[in-house]
Amino acid sequence: MRTLIFDTDIGVDDAFALAYAARTQRLLGITTVFGNVAVGQAVKNARLFCAKMNISAPVYRGCSRPLALAPSAPATLHGADGLGDAFDNPYSDVADSAVQFIIDSVRAQPHAITLVAIGPLTNIACAINQAPDIIPLVKELVIMGGAFGTDGHAGNVTPFAEFNIWKDAHAADQVLASALPVVMLPLDVTHKVLISGEEVRQLNQPVLSAICRPYLAYSLQKEGFDGMALHDTLTLSWLALPQAFSVTTAPVRVVTEGISRGQTLQRVSTLTSRDDPFAGLRAQRLCLGVDAEAVRQHFFATLRA
Ligand code: BDR
Ligand code: CA
Repeated sequence: MRTLIFDTDIGVDDAFALAYAARTQRLLGITTVFGNVAVGQAVKNARLFCAKMNISAPVYRGCSRPLALAPSAPATLHGADGLGDAFDNPYSDVADSAVQFIIDSVRAQPHAITLVAIGPLTNIACAINQAPDIIPLVKELVIMGGAFGTDGHAGNVTPFAEFNIWKDAHAADQVLASALPVVMLPLDVTHKVLISGEEVRQLNQPVLSAICRPYLAYSLQKEGFDGMALHDTLTLSWLALPQAFSVTTAPVRVVTEGISRGQTLQRVSTLTSRDDPFAGLRAQRLCLGVDAEAVRQHFFATLRA
């Protein structure tokens, strides 16, 4: 069992991932970030969801905007509050600093903490910029984000970019180009692991059923499919059953400007040039293939009440 800091812009699939994390790993704390919702709403959502699901973990407040880009509107797919507008939320949005919590925790438990990041990477970038000494002390950083275009999955916000990376492309570039040991779960695999509305109901988890109702209704209306991709939960699938993934290693950079902003690029060329943007970078692990049925069945068995 790993000790996790769970970094989230908590929307619907983040909440599924949090329920999965609480059942499979040791949760040290939940750090929130803007993305699917504003950061204050993310703090409130994390507290509400933990209370409803009997999850015990402190919640911290992280970055409210990207490092350099202008802030963009929250996602709409997850409902106005990010959790399907299913419940009143009486919780406070005041909390201690997420970035400081990450720094202090990694220093206090060197080589023991796994960071799971399922929103924009702004908190992680701020933590390593403020305290570069933590970089070699992180056990692993597991990210849901990016898209490499295998099987046509190249983006979900633009034809080139995945939401979490696109939201703060500079933060993503800094984190992926750092010496942190990263594992990426990009759209290439997350789009292959789907859950139907009926399968959600069979989990017998009323809170999960309630929060994903508008998401499923939208998907049915727009795509004719009563179901959704389990995106963020795949970070926990990686920790629980890494053998279900096929992994490529390559250095990765992120396009920060222009029409392909947010595009994740892995080194495929063997060309050596003086202007090589990958020169000297750590090869990160990219999950590009998945045994979707193994991942789905493990998730169902773990979450079924
Ligand atoms: C990512 O975007 C968000 O809306 C989801 O929570 C997930 O983290 C998928 O691109
Ligand atoms: Ca997310």
